[in-house]
Amino acid sequence: MKFLAARRRSPIVASSLLILALGATGAVYAAVASVQPAVAAVGAQTQVEDGKKLYLEGCSSCHGMQGQGAGTGPTLIGVGAASVDFQVSSGRMPLAAPGAQAVAKDPSYTPEEVAALSAYVASLAPGPAIPTAEQLDFADADVAEGGVLYRVNCAQCHQAAGQGGALTQGKYAPSLMEATPKEMYEAMITGPQSMPVFADSTLPEQDKKAIMAYITAMQEASSPGGLSLGRLGPVTEGLFVWTAVAAALVGAAVWIGIKAR
Ligand code: HEC
Ligand code: HEC
Repeated sequence: MKFLAARRRSPIVASSLLILALGATGAVYAAVASVQPAVAAVGAQTQVEDGKKLYLEGCSSCHGMQGQGAGTGPTLIGVGAASVDFQVSSGRMPLAAPGAQAVAKDPSYTPEEVAALSAYVASLAPGPAIPTAEQLDFADADVAEGGVLYRVNCAQCHQAAGQGGALTQGKYAPSLMEATPKEMYEAMITGPQSMPVFADSTLPEQDKKAIMAYITAMQEASSPGGLSLGRLGPVTEGLFVWTAVAAALVGAAVWIGIKAR
């Protein structure tokens, strides 16, 4: 007992015990740390496999066996996860019927299946990724600045108040009144259909956030007068008043005419 205690107190034993303990901790940590990425990689791999299966069943007839494109559908190589997420979550894909434009409908896939499809297409070639929570956080964005950017970049197609509008050849820019921040961001980075791609070089992330803040503010704006009249401003408001007043005057004239007889 005495012997052990004496040895424990020796500085050499103490420091070698310390080194041993540190070494053991390091070894355990290294083992745990090297296991985690492997597990994550296996998870992503099975997701890609699942996505490939779903892709071959539901998409390959139009987009080709390897996403290279086929007669009806464009190539998906390099469109990225964001494009798949946008197209499939909004129900545009799988395309129901050929037409001027893929229309948004109820999605045919669950969020997990959409994630798998996105992972598979992203594995074919690099492309825009699904926006992160940080990219979608526009709490600090400047709404007024967003309004200026919106009128310069988006209003010519989506209309000044975000109500949407017709384009050429039977195409149309949809109303933005129901769009979620994720849809807005994905639409900007992928440029669906005839919409241009707004890369970070032309529209930096902060500007995208400002636009998202502005559109969200428009969505939340109430119409104190009751009817929004498409938010077209004085023109529709004036037209409405003139039509209503003119109808009332005609009505009054007819009434006077009947009474006079
Ligand atoms: C019936 C044919 C058809 C099927 C099935 C189909 N697509 Fe498409 N897809 C198209 C066409 C046509 C377009 C181009 C549409 C447009 O520009 O309006 C397109 C466009 C896309 C785009 C946009 C490409 C880009 O350049 O950004 C993505 C992503 C996409 N499809 C994914 C899918 C996925 C995933 C599936 C399966 C769940 C699928 N599609 C099923 C015909 C199809
Ligand atoms: C040249 C015309 C054009 C411009 C400019 C344009 N868009 Fe679009 N946008 C479209 C079209 C067309 C679609 C529909 C694509 C489809 O259905 O595949 C669309 C779709 C969208 C959607 C998806 C809406 C939904 O209901 O799913 C959002 C969000 C959107 N645009 C936001 C924007 C923003 C923000 C800007 C400006 C930074 C912008 N767009 C500029 C034409 C345009």
